[in-house]
Amino acid sequence: MGLPGVSRYGLPYHRRVRVMERLEWLYAIGDGPGANRIGYSPEEDAAHELARTWMEEAGLRVEVDEAGNLFGHADVSDPSGRRVWTGSHLDTVPEGGKFDGALGVVAAIEAVERTGRGSVVVWRDEERGCAGSRARVVRGELPDAFLELHIEQGPRLADAGAPLGIVTGIAGVMRGSVVLEGREGHAGTTPMGVRDDALVKAARKILRIEETARTIEDAVATVGQVTVEPGAANVIPARVELTVDARAPDIERCDRLLEVLGFRPTYRVDPSQMSSELRDVLRAELEGRGLPVVDLTSGAGHDAGVLATAGVPSAMLFVRSLNGGISHSPDELSSEDDVELAVDVLTAALARL
Ligand code: HGY
Ligand code: MN
Ligand code: MN
Repeated sequence: MGLPGVSRYGLPYHRRVRVMERLEWLYAIGDGPGANRIGYSPEEDAAHELARTWMEEAGLRVEVDEAGNLFGHADVSDPSGRRVWTGSHLDTVPEGGKFDGALGVVAAIEAVERTGRGSVVVWRDEERGCAGSRARVVRGELPDAFLELHIEQGPRLADAGAPLGIVTGIAGVMRGSVVLEGREGHAGTTPMGVRDDALVKAARKILRIEETARTIEDAVATVGQVTVEPGAANVIPARVELTVDARAPDIERCDRLLEVLGFRPTYRVDPSQMSSELRDVLRAELEGRGLPVVDLTSGAGHDAGVLATAGVPSAMLFVRSLNGGISHSPDELSSEDDVELAVDVLTAALARL
């Protein structure tokens, strides 16, 4: 046990406690189970208000852009003259976890406050398609570098016995919907032989999507939402809309996946590579602490991928997921020790940029 009031990594306990407390404050917004702060909802607004308060307490200059992205600038001119942003998102999926997005925001506030360098950014509506960061890319006025701390949302760091990992690249994400048409009819009086059941067609399509994605290495495809119309137990479905989320690690496999799935995405972020220079900074910090260095790809999409594909050198630091790596679930979990270590590494990396 170290000095009283100083944690294992030499940080004053109150800072470690503050990070975990802030995650609890954010998690408490809205009703459960889990976190329910959908993009541009009153709950995401409340989370942004909380983050704004913490930024003001840290003495940062607060700014909100047209898309509702929230910034906290340290506003001292960095000796390197570079504009470095660090942050993540505060919206969640329905019944999401405590760490997805929120950890990167709380950690960014700590890092900018402790170093007096750079800017915190809280991107709007990341989960439904990175609306905030994509809007900022269209507007321009981007930084020279972007760092995002995020829970891994998978089992690899835990399998490797590593508390932290460095992201090499982010998978391409393509989303859209497929509509199956049929003909409504009476569930009791329409013989099976003359039905045109849209939901039966949708069921076959879902199975084909699942089987097709298995034919392309490291590709994934998910039907997450099914809307049935008119939607009554005693009416043969006339129209079904399926959402499709398809991903692959490189452009070739993304294009092939779209081709075989036969759907036109309404949203696409291409696969992106993280900045080797920024990765080297993170690596030096891990090696300096005698930590294992695990490089890994991200199957999850992130705002860092949007920035990287827009030409902003970006890097992601992953924190080990516990509970088998589960995410987009109230069971999502990282340990206090790993979180504290991650905040310390992000802070040190920001100080070096
Ligand atoms: O869906 C994703 O990959 C991320 O959690 N937004
Ligand atoms: Mn996220
Ligand atoms: Mn997510």
